[in-house]
Amino acid sequence: MVKKSGTKILAMPGPTNVPEEVIQAMNRPAIDIYSGEAVDITKSCLADLKHIFRTKFHTFVFASNGHGVWEAALSNLFSSGDTVLIPVCGHFPVSWSYFAKRLGVKVEFLEAANERAANDPKKLKTALGADKKHKIKAVLQVHIDTASSVVNDLASIRQAIDDAKHPALLVVDAIASLGIVPLEMDAWGIDVVIAASQKGLMMTPGLGFIAANEKALHISKKTNLKSGYWDWHDRQDEPHYKKYCGTAPVHLMMGLRKSLNLMLEETMETIWIRHARLAEAVRRAIDVWATKGELSFNVLEKNQRSNAVTTVLLRDGINPEILTNYCRQNLCVILGIGIGTFEGRSFRIAHMGYLNEAMIFGIIGAVETALKSLSIPHGSGGVQAAIDYLATGPHTGNFN
Ligand SMILES: Cc1ncc(COP(=O)(O)O)c(C=O)c1O
Repeated sequence: MVKKSGTKILAMPGPTNVPEEVIQAMNRPAIDIYSGEAVDITKSCLADLKHIFRTKFHTFVFASNGHGVWEAALSNLFSSGDTVLIPVCGHFPVSWSYFAKRLGVKVEFLEAANERAANDPKKLKTALGADKKHKIKAVLQVHIDTASSVVNDLASIRQAIDDAKHPALLVVDAIASLGIVPLEMDAWGIDVVIAASQKGLMMTPGLGFIAANEKALHISKKTNLKSGYWDWHDRQDEPHYKKYCGTAPVHLMMGLRKSLNLMLEETMETIWIRHARLAEAVRRAIDVWATKGELSFNVLEKNQRSNAVTTVLLRDGINPEILTNYCRQNLCVILGIGIGTFEGRSFRIAHMGYLNEAMIFGIIGAVETALKSLSIPHGSGGVQAAIDYLATGPHTGNFN
């Protein structure tokens, strides 16, 4: 077996690359979970998460992945028989709906024009306007769908709810957007935001987060789907043990403490600019590769392409696994495979989390090498196009 030197680059949309400092912060024996450092870490992380969510309201942490916090939000916010409206823009809104249905929550869907487009706020306004009796309790909106790679305009979604004069809660899945693209929970009037540790937050998988405002907390006092583990009211209580409904995942919290430090040092604004630039560099490369017609962006409208991940469609007859396997086995770059309806006809380049220019060159260099080696027709010079774009600066320069 040949052992490769150097590091592998994760270019899949979660889990993402974890900074060495974060890994080191977790490389410790367990600590007392009832007093001292563990309690301080929880308090400071819950407080600092408010800066990341841009909220003055309540933050909660769960030993969970994203599916867990989907369920946490559903179980706190709804009673059996309640109805929610889910705008569909890819794979994850539909997956979330299965969890709602299993809990006894009724789901109505609002389809995007197609799976290559963002949700249309005008359609949302019309749908809510037609709900005269206010049967719909909440709009469950995915910010960035990691399968289609579409980004939704949350401020306009909020505006649509207000324009329809509808009291529905706005509940946002920001699992693939928090710490990646602008998200202003309070300024945009979002009632609940859901996130997880393994993407923009530069941590290992294992933690789920929810931020909820007073309206959401108030409503959740009367709902009947709350379970012992997910009930966020219980988690507001002391002692420390209650914050996790059991043993605190102390090592994950140590890692989170470090990753939040890194994020706050970099600042949210710089993080958003860094992602925008690195994503644009990837798109410039794809623009060039696509000139031979064999591959194309899934998302048709440029302003609906997310800065977190890009889904690239391949012409019928080209198996994306050949490309992703080649990159993994020969070039140490792990791309995302297509999932859901995109399976077997696409691959994904994630550009989220702990990432810099050098890593982006590595990723797109690997894809272009694979395209060439596998004789998949493509315009050559994608990497050059990315260089030309990034050479115009400003450089992110935050890894000195
Ligand atoms: C937008 C979105 N929502 C939910 C999830 C589910 O998260 P998890 O895999 O951590 O359960 C994912 C995972 O990729 C996601 O991208």
